[in-house]
Amino acid sequence: MSAFTTTLDESVALVTFDLPGEPVNKLSNAVKVEFEALLIRLRDDAEVRAVVLISGKPDSFIAGADIEEFTALTTQAEAERLSFEGQEMVSRVEILPKPVVAAIHGACLGGGLELALACHYRIATDHPKTQLGLPEVQLGLIPGAGGCQRLPRLIGASSALDMILTGRSERAAKAMRLGLVDEVVAPSILRPVALEAARRLLREGSTRRRSHGGVRELFLDRTPAGRRLVYRGARAAVLKRTGGHYPAPLAALEAVRVGLEHGVAAGLAEEHRAFGHLAVGDVSRKLVQIFFATTALKKDDGIAPGSAVPRQIRRLGVIGSGFMGAGIAGTAVLNVEVDTRLKDADLAKVGKGLKAAGGILGDRLKRRQITRPQHERLAGLLSGGIDYAGFSRADLVIEAVFEELELKRRVLAEVEAVTRPDTIFASNTSSIPIRDIAAAAVHPERVLGMHFFSPVEKMPLLEVIPTEATGPEAIVTAVRFGRRMGKTVIVVGDHPGFWVNRILSPYLNEAAMLLQEGVPIDAIDRTMTAWGFPVGPVALLDEVGLDVADKAAKVMYGAFGDRMEPAETLARMLAADRLGRKNAHGFYRYREGHKAGVDDSVYRLLQVRPGEDPDIALVERRLVYAMLNEAATACAEEVVRSARDGDIGAVFGIGFPAFRGGPLRMLDDVGASRAVETLHELQDAFGPRFRPAPALAEMARQGSRYYPA
Ligand code: NAI
Repeated sequence: MSAFTTTLDESVALVTFDLPGEPVNKLSNAVKVEFEALLIRLRDDAEVRAVVLISGKPDSFIAGADIEEFTALTTQAEAERLSFEGQEMVSRVEILPKPVVAAIHGACLGGGLELALACHYRIATDHPKTQLGLPEVQLGLIPGAGGCQRLPRLIGASSALDMILTGRSERAAKAMRLGLVDEVVAPSILRPVALEAARRLLREGSTRRRSHGGVRELFLDRTPAGRRLVYRGARAAVLKRTGGHYPAPLAALEAVRVGLEHGVAAGLAEEHRAFGHLAVGDVSRKLVQIFFATTALKKDDGIAPGSAVPRQIRRLGVIGSGFMGAGIAGTAVLNVEVDTRLKDADLAKVGKGLKAAGGILGDRLKRRQITRPQHERLAGLLSGGIDYAGFSRADLVIEAVFEELELKRRVLAEVEAVTRPDTIFASNTSSIPIRDIAAAAVHPERVLGMHFFSPVEKMPLLEVIPTEATGPEAIVTAVRFGRRMGKTVIVVGDHPGFWVNRILSPYLNEAAMLLQEGVPIDAIDRTMTAWGFPVGPVALLDEVGLDVADKAAKVMYGAFGDRMEPAETLARMLAADRLGRKNAHGFYRYREGHKAGVDDSVYRLLQVRPGEDPDIALVERRLVYAMLNEAATACAEEVVRSARDGDIGAVFGIGFPAFRGGPLRMLDDVGASRAVETLHELQDAFGPRFRPAPALAEMARQGSRYYPA
């Protein structure tokens, strides 16, 4: 079956791309072959004088290259050839002696945008699904079909680098301001406007691209000296963001630079050379694996397929309008557009929660991600009170009250008394076993955990935690609802700390022990940010709150015994009323809400003298292996259903470096036997908490792995 159909509309060929059997349009090898043959026919057909390229899919113009094909690449030469052929195909559009108009509705990403860039005119719809961008760096690659050449020429070097090096995509209005598209229209008139544009180009008798000069095409971009400044700034920004761990943005920068300074041919050559090198490199492989894992999770409902149907959530109840409750409510309203009722103990707290939840909507309005009427409608979905008024109609209730078992049990009993028997009840507890909360439930099949991370509107992960008694309908409903809230959802076991806090706990505790040994705060944090974490463990303790971390550490100690025995550090800090960022008093100092350097008085408090010359490699090994070993233990206890879920949880839940793939992927890379050896060394030096996980030792004996080799 062919992917393209062509109809003739008074000498304009309307080419509709609709890849059979796929939800979105992708550029694969087969598509390329068909498209190139089509281009030749269009060129040679005397009746065709202009072309409009449009998509037959509801949400995608062209979503990008077929990434599956990348994974089949085994050599650099093969990957280079793939990029080179992409460049050729795109160039054929540009040199077609007939005007080509891209009529863009839906995702226009990666190779899709590169193709659109080669067209002679671009029209985009103002629909929120219409997104234009070059996200290749997010997969450890660079735009390899001329994107590094055409984009800077169209919108200027600084704007182009901004898009290419972050991989960020833009909506039509912004694309118009940048000069990336020529016209923005409503989806309903895209086709006639595109046909008319093609006729206009015909009348004007030109396929030469017009220069638009977007707002950001600055004077800087037009002179070599100015561009040098742009390159230098872009490079510094990349290094700051990536810590030098991700080669793709720097390679893209180089491809842009070579093209602008030495001409398109040189730029294209640099582009396919770099693409080839990156595509078979380790970082890209890891990022592509993570991409596939998240894609698979989007289709994974956490239950046996077909065993239950998700309930429709028309009304959400949130109990506790504190930090988490407000975040959950605001995010649900924003992304699910669901009628949401907040409940707290007194009106002042309700008011504060409503304000915080509304702030999430206000922020989107400010960033122009929603319009004023949209904002008004969404804000109207939020309400609150101090009683259970309106809860009888709730389909899902999420509690985020204080972390106290008795309180949570009482809240569950109250909710069961006022809601329908089929209302689903989710707890956002971070450490209390769900089965304990559900112990006295009348309908335990409706009770489960939905563990969000803070801040809810930003953190991409959700852990859904069924108990033995939870029914499949509740699970699939929670998973689907979390996904609609914009989260990547993993279903995890009802074990203390679930997955993310379980593997985080020994890592943070090890950091606390290092502090107690006098390893300087900044040495610990810098070691781990250099390793690839977004923040170091000590700064993370400050963020989480030392009271919260202390409570969690005690729960873990209670559950797992000696290997999680807490260091004294947190108790000493708490005795001095140091709670971290929340009271601007932690391991770091805070000035007007901003971190302002290490607080040296902490050392006196901990009764240590900061060491002059800590063994950084050892600090790193202790912290990393504390986490890897716990991941192996928890995985063997089936806290996660698969290594895939465990790795995604670590990457999205705690910012485990994506280029390392996740803790279990990393254990595979190191090799179980080498990991066990390292753990034995650490055990000899620091005690039994480093005893290798029995499952890992077994894997070492058998030479087995988490993922197929
Ligand atoms: P918070 O202290 O900001 O909010 C708790 C709210 O619950 C307060 O507004 C309080 O007035 C209210 N509340 C207490 N009893 C109530 C009752 N009977 N009825 C209605 N409201 C009541 O606490 P936060 O940080 O929002 O935590 C809430 C829950 O979320 C806890 O279980 C916590 O473990 C969990 N959690 C917290 C995370 C965090 O980073 N803060 C992350 C993930 C989970």
